[in-house]
Amino acid sequence: HRHDVVVVGSANADLVVQVGRHPAPGETVLGSDLAVHPGGKGANQAVAAARLGARVALLGRVGTDGHGRLLRESLRRDGVDLSHLHDTPAASGVAMIAVGPRGDNSIIVAPGANSLLSEDDVRGAAPLLRSAPIVSLQLEIPMPAVLAAARLARRAVLNLSPATPVPDELLALCDPLVVNEHEAALVLGGMGDAAQQAKALLALGPRSVVITLGADGAVTAEDGAVQPVPSPRVAPVDTTGAGDAFAGALAWRLARGDALADAAAFAARVGAATVRRPGAQNSYPTLAEVETL
Ligand code: RIB
Ligand code: NA
Repeated sequence: HRHDVVVVGSANADLVVQVGRHPAPGETVLGSDLAVHPGGKGANQAVAAARLGARVALLGRVGTDGHGRLLRESLRRDGVDLSHLHDTPAASGVAMIAVGPRGDNSIIVAPGANSLLSEDDVRGAAPLLRSAPIVSLQLEIPMPAVLAAARLARRAVLNLSPATPVPDELLALCDPLVVNEHEAALVLGGMGDAAQQAKALLALGPRSVVITLGADGAVTAEDGAVQPVPSPRVAPVDTTGAGDAFAGALAWRLARGDALADAAAFAARVGAATVRRPGAQNSYPTLAEVETL
């Protein structure tokens, strides 16, 4: 195969401001100067995997504006195949991001061109999707496009982010379904400990499950067996896009044939490496950097 991972998903220009604390509704806070970084959950997954050494293609849509050029440039620098990234007469996706003092963020996304990615776009790329060992998905593009991609994939990895209710058919196509605790709670309609959540998610139909736990690593579940996965300890500066890096790294290791728990342990180290630096894609590590962690 020509690609290890095909990512079907979003690209956003991230407009980032550091704040002392997040504003409540009706409130104004003064922040830092504005930084503009390449982001978007799909493009982030693609860059994370490519920077580690994966051969990656991104299927998506960006606008023919300055943000679109920034996004293409970042992807191209990391060698992501952009032959299925379509220029679209719309604004590129934009994410407005506030980063708090402990690296915690809040994000508002204006989807723009991402919202125009259609089922037909995905079907038009059927040979690409069928050829790759892994198709990696997230939820900043329309659900019909996500579902079409999962149907065509030999193996679909879905990061259920941003948290959105998803059809049962999509859940059943995930191998694995990747969620954080909040996304797990949304799908399950309640909290529990991660091991309980993982088993309950597995009962909904995916072939395997990964729950990411930030600084506490992750748990994996398949065939009813739940396994904890550790994470290295790091001081967080900016957690934006850490989950996307985890998913991209996981997808690559699964494409190489790693067992789920091994792939998740590697992905946890990649995620930890990203939170030490500002930004999403800009903070993603090379393989050499991950090995020193
Ligand atoms: O997951 C982080 C990403 O979410 C950011 O890069 C931003 O674009 C939003 O999509
Ligand atoms: Na970061």
